[in-house]
Amino acid sequence: MTDQLTGTTTVRWGVLATGSIAATVSRDIALVPGAELTAVASRDAGRAAAFAAEHGFARSHGSYRELVEAGGLDAVYVATPHAQHVVLARACVEAGIPVLVEKPVGCTAAATRGLAELARERGVFVMEALWARFQPNHVRLREILSSGVIGEVRSVAGDLGFALPYDPAHRLWDPAQGGGTLLDTGVYPVSFAQGVFGGSPQAVHAVGVLAENGVDAEASLLLDWGGGRTARLGSTLLAHAGGAGTITGTKGRIEVAGPLHKPSRLEVWAEGAQRDDEPSEVVALPVTGRGYVHMVEHVHECLAAGLVESPVMPMTDSVAVAEVLDAALDALGAVHRDDDTALV
Ligand SMILES: NC(=O)c1ccc[n+]([C@@H]2O[C@H](COP(=O)([O-])OP(=O)(O)OC[C@H]3O[C@@H](n4cnc5c(N)ncnc54)[C@H](OP(=O)(O)O)[C@@H]3O)[C@@H](O)[C@H]2O)c1
Repeated sequence: MTDQLTGTTTVRWGVLATGSIAATVSRDIALVPGAELTAVASRDAGRAAAFAAEHGFARSHGSYRELVEAGGLDAVYVATPHAQHVVLARACVEAGIPVLVEKPVGCTAAATRGLAELARERGVFVMEALWARFQPNHVRLREILSSGVIGEVRSVAGDLGFALPYDPAHRLWDPAQGGGTLLDTGVYPVSFAQGVFGGSPQAVHAVGVLAENGVDAEASLLLDWGGGRTARLGSTLLAHAGGAGTITGTKGRIEVAGPLHKPSRLEVWAEGAQRDDEPSEVVALPVTGRGYVHMVEHVHECLAAGLVESPVMPMTDSVAVAEVLDAALDALGAVHRDDDTALV
């Protein structure tokens, strides 16, 4: 609902899960004008009540299904592990509730595509919570690219990851929770390249390392975007990757100081800058809150405008990224499945 005097949209938010990112994003939702922390759900009623008390939610539910069925919400944020995203997001869409789904939307491109199709059929808003695209440095990056100062983009490079000791019970190593590096950190460099080139690559080449339980521990990707345009990307749970990125164009380049999902600084080296040994532009814009506020504000704008897809993070882009991740996982021999039993 939009207040005619202030132009502020009131959005009653529901949050599914009480883990680490649910807490961080709930704090940022609270910073957005018009946002109301209305309901939180956990698989455990006590955990939901404690989370509601800590973060100021009006009500709590001891099951995800109960929150969805109770209604009275304008948007739901799905913050469960990857494998548990799609079934919960589908339940929200079936109930007519707009949904913001943590990254990656699903563990497979088929599940991601299925959700996008359902949302389109029902006319309900769905967006992947790819917060990187909404941060001020990323917004400025898109403006610089469209200004043409670095010419036509020929290549994108970037990686992301950290060394995490092997523990098959940890979310990032557990196949039942969508564990593995590609679906977790890999989604950021792939989405970064996809955002720059648009559409889908013509070919995906990948090499990597599997953990002893078969999940992907490390991957290097070479994506062919046609006409010689390429992306060289990496993702790892075995090493501390700096997470920096470079976009190289026919007239210059942009260097993105890592980590790619929350870049601290951009250096633009337009034509002539190389000669002067000074970047032609340096961008280091601050984020609001922990950096998720910009994404939540965007969701409010989309809802106020009655959109069913975000123009910045449309589901077609999420599906394109999921297809790349599918192909890379296939090349490595890692298998991922979405959990159809998560609506409890
Ligand atoms: N955008 C970002 O910066 C960012 C950062 C970190 C993570 N993420 C994404 O957020 C998602 C969750 O990550 P997280 O770090 O918050 O994980 P986490 O701390 O392990 O929390 C996940 C929560 O999901 C719920 N859950 C539902 N089904 C579950 C299952 N089968 N096994 C375990 N937990 C289950 C649990 O809440 P209840 O017990 O209350 O039901 C749990 O607390 C992931 O998809 C990840 O990609 C995004």
